[in-house]
Amino acid sequence: MTTPAAVIVDAAAYAQAVEDAVRAAAAYYEGGTSPLDDDAYDRLVRGIADWEAEHPDGILPDSPTGKVAGGAVEGDVPHTVPMLSLDNVFSAEEFTAWTASLARRTGRDATRFSVGPKLDGLAIAARYSDGRLTRLITRGDGTAGEDVSHAIGTVEGLPEKLDEPVTVEVRGEVLMTAAQFEYANEVRTGHGGQPFANPRNAAAGTLRARERLYTVPMTFFGYGLLPLPDTDSALAEKLNDFAHSDLMAFAAGLGVHTSARTAVPDTVAETVEEVLDRVGEIAAVRAELPFGIDGIVVKADLAEDRRAAGSGSRAPRWAIAYKLPAVEKITRLLEVEWNVGRTGIIAPRGVLEPVVIDGSTITYATLHNPADITRRDLRLGDHVMVHRAGDVIPRIEAPVAHLRTGEERPIEFPAQCPRCGSDIDTGEERWRCAQGRNCHLVASLAYAAGRDQLDIEGLGATRVVQLVDAGLIADLADLFTLRREQLLALERMGETSTDNLLAALARAKEQPLSRVLCALGVRGTGRSMSRRIARHFATMDHVRAADAEAMQRVEGIGAEKAPSIVAELAELAPLIDKLAAAGVNMTEPGATPPPPPGAGGDAPAEDGPLAGMTVVVTGAMTGKLEKLSRNEMNELVERAGGRSSSSVSRKTALVVAGEGAGSKRAKAEQLDVRLATPEEFATMVAGLLD
Ligand code: IVH
Repeated sequence: MTTPAAVIVDAAAYAQAVEDAVRAAAAYYEGGTSPLDDDAYDRLVRGIADWEAEHPDGILPDSPTGKVAGGAVEGDVPHTVPMLSLDNVFSAEEFTAWTASLARRTGRDATRFSVGPKLDGLAIAARYSDGRLTRLITRGDGTAGEDVSHAIGTVEGLPEKLDEPVTVEVRGEVLMTAAQFEYANEVRTGHGGQPFANPRNAAAGTLRARERLYTVPMTFFGYGLLPLPDTDSALAEKLNDFAHSDLMAFAAGLGVHTSARTAVPDTVAETVEEVLDRVGEIAAVRAELPFGIDGIVVKADLAEDRRAAGSGSRAPRWAIAYKLPAVEKITRLLEVEWNVGRTGIIAPRGVLEPVVIDGSTITYATLHNPADITRRDLRLGDHVMVHRAGDVIPRIEAPVAHLRTGEERPIEFPAQCPRCGSDIDTGEERWRCAQGRNCHLVASLAYAAGRDQLDIEGLGATRVVQLVDAGLIADLADLFTLRREQLLALERMGETSTDNLLAALARAKEQPLSRVLCALGVRGTGRSMSRRIARHFATMDHVRAADAEAMQRVEGIGAEKAPSIVAELAELAPLIDKLAAAGVNMTEPGATPPPPPGAGGDAPAEDGPLAGMTVVVTGAMTGKLEKLSRNEMNELVERAGGRSSSSVSRKTALVVAGEGAGSKRAKAEQLDVRLATPEEFATMVAGLLD
């Protein structure tokens, strides 16, 4: 799939686009850091080409479409033969069109192609004299490059001595494998440096670094072999006449590392279909390769075809890069979430400014563990390089440190388990809740015991942890069969605490159905939804007998939510049975069960002092209502026949405004909604307050 070209509207925008592209290309070839990712660069260059096609008289000499790409670097070593770039195609159609133009030049349809991975690293020329590696030169601007011979000995696959004493230039790509990249960033940040954004930048930076305190290995893949001025003429002739596939076999025979022993060796294809099949095969294994590829290079294999096709100033006409969709994009890291998995592992996850990579919008990326965050020196607000290949979960490769503004904030690590509040075991790189697999249980029991659920005083997370650790409880129902002597045997549980807890548990058994439902923690049903379900069905038996259709009759439950609530309740059946057997109340006081299906008519309208009224409670309650939580106030409204809501609108019938009420009170005044003080409200519902 081709992403659209950038749209350039006028000459000024064109000049700017050329300037941006030149700067990005220079950064790319020199291994500097570009604010454009590959995809953005490709789109820009295609936009430039589109504009130039319409305005052939206005083409700037600097344009990346016309010259050997890459910025010139001073003080360079001239290349004996220019190191060219490659033209790109992005689809099977574009590729087929290219083969047609190749056929026109070679004068024959059938030709042989060599098909191999387009390695995502830096081009390098390695000069061998009588079999000895004498010089390493970067590509530079294509006509001259930088001497990086200091890197000799650090590049795997580039032997210092060939198996035969020949004088040749080996060309190929220097890159870092995933493992080499990890290691490079570990060493670099360990020395106080900024991490590299991706393996390509890492290889470029490492290759050019002269005074290094440490050695970081890289890997070389050869893709070309050519004679030098001193090459024996018989060998020179042989090299020039070799098919590309034979040339690569010859290079491998000299001890040069090529793609041959990877999962994606160069292969020969006889037809366009065979090439496209091979492209598909290479694309399919891309995500699993230990090195990055950004496409597939297709070359005319035979020397005579290459000669007939010739080269332009920028790229040969006998080869083409079939680009694969970019797997890396730059976006911003907005937040870090800490999620606790089934086994208690606490894993950070980056929340990203949404970015489209290979057709999918990415909003989250894994961050592994806290040590990894520290190692990568990530901060909130950072621009980050996000990598997503195949179906693999997207990952944040590294911050793009040169895009920092100074506004970035440190990422805070949790001090307590974010799910259950227990201590965190930070002994290993992967942090784990001290409760391990029980974390989920502790969190759900502490929630069930909370003030708005079963309101079990004295049963905080610490006490739950203690009970779980002692093996006394494995689910919510076990709480209600705890015996006095079991509790007394626990540490810090004296007679008083034990009796208080048992009394609180006895009271909890009498809680209305709405709170029992809420305590069960059915997904999608919080406090107010649990109350609505309980008031609608009146008994747990009716709730459990409801199918999705019946569940949808509860206000606020739609076709999407109903089946999942029904399914989850069915899953909870054994626990609900166990709770009922332990004597937990399963009815909602004051509510009437709905008529059986087919009996006609809706559930009877609520009656009570607030019948039919939508009520909003805001501010601090005083007087008789002082001790009531917001949830309890809402319960009271509903028991009085009203409907509780949290926002004021024209539909609101009454706003109970306590001390410190702010915007909701103002809105009520503005909309002329009736206001009541807590005292006035207490009078309205006097019959329901004990
Ligand atoms: S052949 C005349 N083969 O891609 C240039 N290049 O985008 C012929 N590259 O500058 C190059 N893998 O650095 C060739 N298997 C491969 C390649 C490859 C990566 C690089 C090379 C070139 C760049 C163009």
